Amino acid sequence: MEMNIALLKGDGIGPEIVDSAVCVLEKIGEKFGHKFNFTPYLIGGCAIDAVGEPLPKETVEGCLAADSVLLGAVGGPKWDTLPGNMRPEKALLGIRAAMELYTNLRPAKLYPALKDDCPLRADIAKDGFDILIVRELTGGIYFGDRGYREGKYGEEAYDTECYSRFEIERIARAAFEAAKLRRCNVISIDKANVLESSRLWRKTVHEIAEEYPEVTCTDMLVDNAAMQLVKNPSQFDVIVTSNMFGDILSDEASQITGSIGMLASSSLGDTKRGLYEPIHGSAPDIAGQNKANPIATILSAAMMLRYAFSLEAEAKCIEDAVDAVLEAGIRTADIAKDGKSIGTKEMTAEILKRI
Ligand code: IPM
Ligand code: MG
Repeated sequence: MEMNIALLKGDGIGPEIVDSAVCVLEKIGEKFGHKFNFTPYLIGGCAIDAVGEPLPKETVEGCLAADSVLLGAVGGPKWDTLPGNMRPEKALLGIRAAMELYTNLRPAKLYPALKDDCPLRADIAKDGFDILIVRELTGGIYFGDRGYREGKYGEEAYDTECYSRFEIERIARAAFEAAKLRRCNVISIDKANVLESSRLWRKTVHEIAEEYPEVTCTDMLVDNAAMQLVKNPSQFDVIVTSNMFGDILSDEASQITGSIGMLASSSLGDTKRGLYEPIHGSAPDIAGQNKANPIATILSAAMMLRYAFSLEAEAKCIEDAVDAVLEAGIRTADIAKDGKSIGTKEMTAEILKRI
């Protein structure tokens, strides 16, 4: 197969970790006889510096024309004081919207080799966990009406949470389809005791659940979910939730795996193309120092092979190589044991050796 992949390296550690994933994809190409053509595009702070806007038109066009997109991370203190629509983060939301990537899959599992990195008590961690967070990605408060106005106490700002039945139906279907390939259990997370949008969410999810009699579907309030994730994470199979709740709960879920540096994600729409990215940010404090953990981005590349190109054996080959590295006790600083760790490049080389 020959595939054209758009690379959005972005800011901070983005370039280093995307370079690692490119090395891994090239090795996979050699081993399995595929050709990957990589074309870099600007996004985020580096795009602001180079061309004065976080999401240039060429980037959007390049991503839409590519077979798939691999993204590093965007943002950094240098651009933090820019107005909202000029921030690097706006580019991330912009590309998700432009590509209509409404489904964000964020798997969080506890690797046996990383059990000691899990901050949960041993009796809770002992059963392990394997959770798939299905986060709605192009709706809700991230994209709702917002602004400033005069209110009862003078100047005020507002953001609006709004979900259409259509948006809830399609993300619910994505969650049920994913659950069918796993343990057939969906927990839908909302705040239906307070929010009208959550009440529509809950009602609609249950309507779609009837199309999937083989999948169990229950509801959980988001505050309780935050608690249950640390109390009894093994009860979760697939979580489906709104854009903002998914953002928050996926960071929490990542932390109980030991490190946010381990979590990959894929953002999908109606086509298989998708955008693949680690869930962590640009970590400006360690950028350019060969310290970042490249595993989340490398696992995102594996997800790309699986979902965008249906290359299951190739995806598994990367995941097995990551497992083997962890089993061998090889660690970057974020998951280091006894203070012994290696850098981004060295970790990449260890994974390449096992492919
Ligand atoms: C994520 C990030 C983004 C989000 C930010 C950088 C806009 O936190 O992908 O989880 O909130 O979606
Ligand atoms: Mg986040």
